[in-house]
Amino acid sequence: MKFTSPATETIFDTSTVVGKATHRVDGPLKVSGRAPYAYERHDVIDGQLVAYPLGATIAKGRILSIDTQHAKAAPGVHTIITTLEYDELPKDERNVASLFGGDKVVHYHQAIAAVVADSFEQARAAANLITVKYDIEQDLDFDLERQWQQRGTVEPVSATGDFAQAFQSAAKTLDREYRTPGHSHAMMEPHSTLAHWDGDALTIWTSNQMIAWNREALAVTLGLEEDNIRVDSPYIGGGFGSKLFLRSDAVLAALASKASGRPVKLALPRPFVMNNTTHRGETIQRIRIGTDAQGHITAIAHTAMSPTQPGGQGEQATDQTRQFYAGANRLIEHHPVEMFLPESNAMRAPGEASGLMALEIAMDEMAEVLDMDPVAFRALNDTQVDPENPKRTFSDRNFTRCLSEGARAFGWHDRPQTPASRRDGNWLIGMGMAGAYRGSPVLTSGARVRLQANGTVIVETDMTDIGTGSYTIIAQTAAEVMGLPVSAIDVRLGDSNFPRSAGSGGQFGAPSSTAGVYAACVKLREMIAQKLQMPEAELSFSDGAVHSAGEPQLIGTFATDAELVAEDKIEFGKFRSDDHIVSTFGAHFVELRVHALTGEIRLNRMLAVCDSGRILNPITARSQVIGGMVMGVGAAMMEEMAVDRTQGFFANHDLAGYEVPVHMDIPSQEVIFLDTLDPVATPMKAKGIGELGLCGVAAAVANAAYNATGVRLRDYPVTLEKLFPGLPKV
Ligand code: MOS
Repeated sequence: MKFTSPATETIFDTSTVVGKATHRVDGPLKVSGRAPYAYERHDVIDGQLVAYPLGATIAKGRILSIDTQHAKAAPGVHTIITTLEYDELPKDERNVASLFGGDKVVHYHQAIAAVVADSFEQARAAANLITVKYDIEQDLDFDLERQWQQRGTVEPVSATGDFAQAFQSAAKTLDREYRTPGHSHAMMEPHSTLAHWDGDALTIWTSNQMIAWNREALAVTLGLEEDNIRVDSPYIGGGFGSKLFLRSDAVLAALASKASGRPVKLALPRPFVMNNTTHRGETIQRIRIGTDAQGHITAIAHTAMSPTQPGGQGEQATDQTRQFYAGANRLIEHHPVEMFLPESNAMRAPGEASGLMALEIAMDEMAEVLDMDPVAFRALNDTQVDPENPKRTFSDRNFTRCLSEGARAFGWHDRPQTPASRRDGNWLIGMGMAGAYRGSPVLTSGARVRLQANGTVIVETDMTDIGTGSYTIIAQTAAEVMGLPVSAIDVRLGDSNFPRSAGSGGQFGAPSSTAGVYAACVKLREMIAQKLQMPEAELSFSDGAVHSAGEPQLIGTFATDAELVAEDKIEFGKFRSDDHIVSTFGAHFVELRVHALTGEIRLNRMLAVCDSGRILNPITARSQVIGGMVMGVGAAMMEEMAVDRTQGFFANHDLAGYEVPVHMDIPSQEVIFLDTLDPVATPMKAKGIGELGLCGVAAAVANAAYNATGVRLRDYPVTLEKLFPGLPKV
């Protein structure tokens, strides 16, 4: 099915299942510990061995030797593979740094060996007996600050009007720099793979967001036919972008399994999650805003710098500034800096998450320069067209409603007008807000639906559920279209034997995959209509039956030959991007308190208002948003990958040193959905939500901290030692 124009009316406009609060269909499996995760696939194949990886302990250089003699003699050891025994493996286009093979090291904890043993403990103990000699490359620069100070000019990402002239002649201006540190995905389940060979055919049970991408990448990297690879990843303990691409767990497990002739499983130890896989790159950003006397933005420029491995892009923190606010004169510049730190790559809302951490403080500061309310300043600069190309309109943009409904619900009018003016004993109380913006892309997505004689439907697609609720919203979609209860739908995901889907990433998963399931279900309805020799439009599907002019017929009776199978995919026409920008919008509000004597920061309450098109399931959507808000609190107040600027690695590479929020850090959270319909987005009129929930949160916290204390911080995280020196004297 091709989606070529905004649907005026669809099956979902009278929805009875889609849009209803529905608990996770996979919930019981998860809370009872029966959902099989990659490292626990004990039952799929006998004779499993365990591998443990070894990582390089230098940032860059050449491996001269790897001595495995003592490790080989250690108890329980079967095999050891080392990178020197392989040529550098070919890279899939989506991988930036090489994953294994050859003597070159380009980042700390690049995988250089794996030990295969009977048990995890034996493999780990033996890995510690391996000694490696390096030729270390000296004088590498891991200091982004120095690069920033020495930066030259760069070809703009985009330039509209005449920024320099407009900024110079603006009535009011702001010119500030902001700094965001690197972040780790820090998902609960580390990257894990169980690999098994049957001749030339490889099966991996793994934890991955994008099944088809990973099969393609494995084919390139291991030199296999795609048809000879099966990837299975039905349950995933979080990804946040870290599991978008093929990583070393799968490569090492596959090679170690080949070498040992047995199934081998490998989980990346937590330090490897930080230094071997990817992370959100640190940024330095400069934002300039000029307005007229009334506060209309006339000039806006966003310049960002971020480190990257050669061939990568770094964190593109300027993305949202191209389209979020109005203004005729605009300049966007991005400086990727080649650096041999571990690879920076996509992490939840890549681009916007970091960019809004800066832009939404800048908007707060500009409002202050103008002596305007920050909500009113943002509303004044709303735009319904692409500021870079007014011929393109936003498909559906209700940002000002997010602002006004949020302000009302949160009690924004009660905000302390003057920073550091409200106290409750020794606590300084502040309120802050920020706008949220995140694109809502889509990808082609397919599914197969199999109607059974008992009136149930099996849905198969290689879509993944990374904790987001895919199983549930896909069940709801099929139930809606086929006129069945959710309990009659059996959703099967994450297997490369199923039709290729969008996968999970970029908040494209929910809108794309449900539209793909919709397409397959429509095909199934057409097949049923054909059997009745009637036009599909004259049938209705409800209560487990097919209704036509005559008697209703139980839907299962159409499953002649045991089952009736339909397969289709949704493809999206170019109208979606040529004529429109499809994006999601929101507003975040935060109230917090800072202790006047110690600088301790505690959140009081948080509110998100989200404009994301149709909300397919308010329970799972809300969970996405509150999870994003928690992540935003982490980014605001604690998360920071501490760079060792001389050795070039992240020093706090575990969950003791890399702090994320815990329950005690998170107060009351509320989420309001505008629950609009976006007819341009997909036939479901739904958009992404999972990344929007994060966007802007950290800035809302930082702005609230400023409102509480009068201390304006522009380098994250906002911590007590940074606030303390500026706290008002008691
Ligand atoms: Mo998301 S960073 O595209 O998984």
